[in-house]
Amino acid sequence: MMTFEQFMQYYKKEVERCMEHAVTATESDQKIEQSMIYSLGAGGKRIRPLLLLATIIAFDEKPQLGYQTAAAMEMIHTYSLIHDDLPAMDNDDYRRGKLTNHKVYGEATAILAGDALLTQAFELIACDTTLSGETRLQLVQLFAKSAGSNGMVGGQQADILGENRTLTLAELESVHRRKTGALLTASVLGGAIIAGVPKADQDILASFSNHIGIAFQICDDILDVIGDAKKMGKNNWWRF
Ligand code: IPE
Ligand code: IPE
Ligand code: MG
Repeated sequence: MMTFEQFMQYYKKEVERCMEHAVTATESDQKIEQSMIYSLGAGGKRIRPLLLLATIIAFDEKPQLGYQTAAAMEMIHTYSLIHDDLPAMDNDDYRRGKLTNHKVYGEATAILAGDALLTQAFELIACDTTLSGETRLQLVQLFAKSAGSNGMVGGQQADILGENRTLTLAELESVHRRKTGALLTASVLGGAIIAGVPKADQDILASFSNHIGIAFQICDDILDVIGDAKKMGKNNWWRF
């Protein structure tokens, strides 16, 4: 039986290995590859892949079945952060304790690195022969919906539109649910799909992970104001 610490360390490494392979096993241009590896390798808690793998384990299925999907989810998340930090968005200089992607590679490459991470994440799932065609299709649908304009991207847009006015509680919850909750929920449900969890149980997991998503964004926003910038690896917004 693994401790939680051992679980995190072991599976983080497995997912990181898959991500590195996914972006280096191509004939891509050196600069775009370096830029993708820079952000993927910059660390991060890897909470989404770990949630996905923990869900598979909780339902007694082999975690190895989820490695590629977990890597794909972290690639989608990393793309969202690279684009979130761009000057046209949050204009941040630090992420995961290092300079943001555009600060090192320039805006054009940062945009392209994000595009490539998002696209190749779906390639990773589609090509995962350890899963059935039906499972892969379900995962692609789930991740696409969660990342798109009905999910994370829609939440980012709503967040930007709400910047200069006070949102109602319902509006704020809707932003959090889409911007942050959607990918966290998709991580848990992705694990559930791979483990063959029945629909009724998937609904319970969706509700549980939705709550995690909202709590996670509230915590992130509070830390943006009062947190230790060194520990978080990004600047507190009010200082800059
Ligand atoms: C940060 O996500 C952005 C939000 C959606 C709140 P994480 O806190 O999971 O960032 P990393 O991956 O650990 O850097
Ligand atoms: C999180 O938004 C980014 C995404 C959901 C893509 P925030 O702007 O609130 O998160 P940080 O503070 O940059 O990590
Ligand atoms: Mg931001």
